[in-house]
Amino acid sequence: MRLIILKDKEDIGKWVAYHTAKKILEFKPTEDRPFVLGLPTGSTPMETYKNLIQLHKDGVVSFKNVVTFNMDEYIGLAPDHPQSYHYFMYDTFFKHVDAREENINILDGLTTDIKKTCEEYEEKIKSYGGIKLFLGGVGEDGHIAFNEPGSSLESRTRDKELTYDTILANSRFFDNDITKVPKVALTVGVGTLLDSEEVVIMADGYKKANAVHQGIENGVNHLCTLSALQLHRRAIVVVDESAAVEL
Ligand code: GLP
Repeated sequence: MRLIILKDKEDIGKWVAYHTAKKILEFKPTEDRPFVLGLPTGSTPMETYKNLIQLHKDGVVSFKNVVTFNMDEYIGLAPDHPQSYHYFMYDTFFKHVDAREENINILDGLTTDIKKTCEEYEEKIKSYGGIKLFLGGVGEDGHIAFNEPGSSLESRTRDKELTYDTILANSRFFDNDITKVPKVALTVGVGTLLDSEEVVIMADGYKKANAVHQGIENGVNHLCTLSALQLHRRAIVVVDESAAVEL
């Protein structure tokens, strides 16, 4: 696991965006082997998206031949719900770049067949030869995607009940009203993330300091799913100085 400590979240956003663009540029896509990128939501990756959009506007990087898979989606929210991860992704990123609709994959939070939706997601990832680079944030309790404490480290895409802590933390996007926060989500598994060729996890701010400490310095533990990345050959954790204070 490689740890990179930068000054602040702006620097994290720049570093991760440049790293992502570099990987896309170095890759030689073919018809059946596009660059496959895993994407997160939340406040942490906002700076990364801002920088990727700028790199696109400057003509540095194109997303035409990039296939994307998002990490997770709330169950019960329609794609046009302002707090759905579908809405977030189009609003924050896809509509500002040259991403092609047919290359965008986000779990369907309104599915009536969860098992089938999740299995098909895994199959689709496989059909592209797996994910090249998965970007992510981390929850205050150390969860990656929605792999809450206690998730199997071999888990695949599935539905996951959210913990009270996560519901509380995410209620800031739902008028600070925990009753409005969905209680279940669809999420790629820890195993899905571990299968990616490279995983880059970002964390900024003091609130993430304990998760970063637990995930990096403690042993591999299903109570802090970030720690599973210690088992990955090419995992990078990019934090700012505040998130690094407990290291
Ligand atoms: C949610 C998401 C995670 C994200 C976490 C932290 O739980 N499912 O993918 O990493 O929130 O979000 P934020 O970046 O807003 O702190």
